[in-house]
Amino acid sequence: MPGGFGGASAVGRRRFLVMSTAAVALPVPVSACASGDAQGLAPAGAGTTSTVGLTVNGKRRSAVVDNRTSLLDLLREHLGLPGTKKGCDQGACGACTVLVDDRRVNSCLAFAVMHDGARVTTIEGLARGGRLHPLQQAFIDHDGLQCGYCTPGQIVSGVACIEEGHTRSREEIREWMSGNLCRCGAYTNIVTAIEQTAKGA
Ligand code: FES
Ligand code: FES
Repeated sequence: MPGGFGGASAVGRRRFLVMSTAAVALPVPVSACASGDAQGLAPAGAGTTSTVGLTVNGKRRSAVVDNRTSLLDLLREHLGLPGTKKGCDQGACGACTVLVDDRRVNSCLAFAVMHDGARVTTIEGLARGGRLHPLQQAFIDHDGLQCGYCTPGQIVSGVACIEEGHTRSREEIREWMSGNLCRCGAYTNIVTAIEQTAKGA
């Protein structure tokens, strides 16, 4: 696997993962911590369901889900939004990145029930009025993808990276995008797409 965006990426990636996983660290019942996780590997709470209501891409959505359901599976399997990809399903690749209340989150690590009431933005929600988001267009213009599997996560993360103002240099972009891996190694062009979009923002 390519080594990521490089530079000081290890530190940045750790910081990103800490931010992303913090959302699943505290409110989980002790019993669930002992034997369950967002990937549904353990039986804690099995058979217990909850109604989760979210605003997804500007629309109110709800679903009844098993309490162990990840936000990623809620989006893909229950709400019919398969644009967000499942790569590692372990918080390591960033393919599942969505915005929760404008913050980047690895949705494979987040329990859906913990985000009841939240505002979620996925790759399907970036275009406006039939026009691609400028960063989506930039990925096309600058050839920021090959197989495309990591691309939804890269673009959602890139949108946040621009909004956060972490685009003052290519090195800074690499640092703050280091939670998103690309097995095809399209990093140089991904950074260019983000850099150019930030300049036009
Ligand atoms: S699928 Fe979530 S981080 Fe890889
Ligand atoms: S994994 Fe193929 S374009 Fe990134």
